[in-house]
Amino acid sequence: MESFWRNCIICLFLGFACLFESGNATPNVTLDYKICNGETFNWNEDNLVQKMDEVLDMAVGKVADNGYNYYASIRDENTDFQCWAHAACNGKLTWIDCYACVVRAHDLLMNQCRRNYGAQFQLIDCRVRREKYEFNED
Ligand SMILES: *[C@@H]1O[C@H](CO)[C@@H](O)[C@H](O)[C@H]1NC(C)=O
Repeated sequence: MESFWRNCIICLFLGFACLFESGNATPNVTLDYKICNGETFNWNEDNLVQKMDEVLDMAVGKVADNGYNYYASIRDENTDFQCWAHAACNGKLTWIDCYACVVRAHDLLMNQCRRNYGAQFQLIDCRVRREKYEFNED
């Protein structure tokens, strides 16, 4: 009889473990593809690179609160430089998983193509893109 209850508890535990495994999957941040524009900003264009960073940060920071699909743009008043970014998540993700996924995509972009004119990183569950021109991915 004792072992019956012990087995029951083990069964329940495994059941819960399975529920968590399938119902609460973490985002899949495996890279699907990336495209980095072949041209890069010059050594003396750090101010423009910073604008590119800002616009991406904006898209990444807002996408989870804006229907998992968000476009951002910035115009620099001094130089008239303008740039655009987009972030999107798989609609099945939770808020925090959407955020975590685009942060991961952002980090990959920053590590691999920060100074490129434009770049996009498509992970399995989310994507980010930034360009010096306006674009639409819907
Ligand atoms: C993530 O997606 C890739 C590609 O579809 C797949 O091979 C991999 O097993 C997935 N990883 C997880 C943890 O689900």
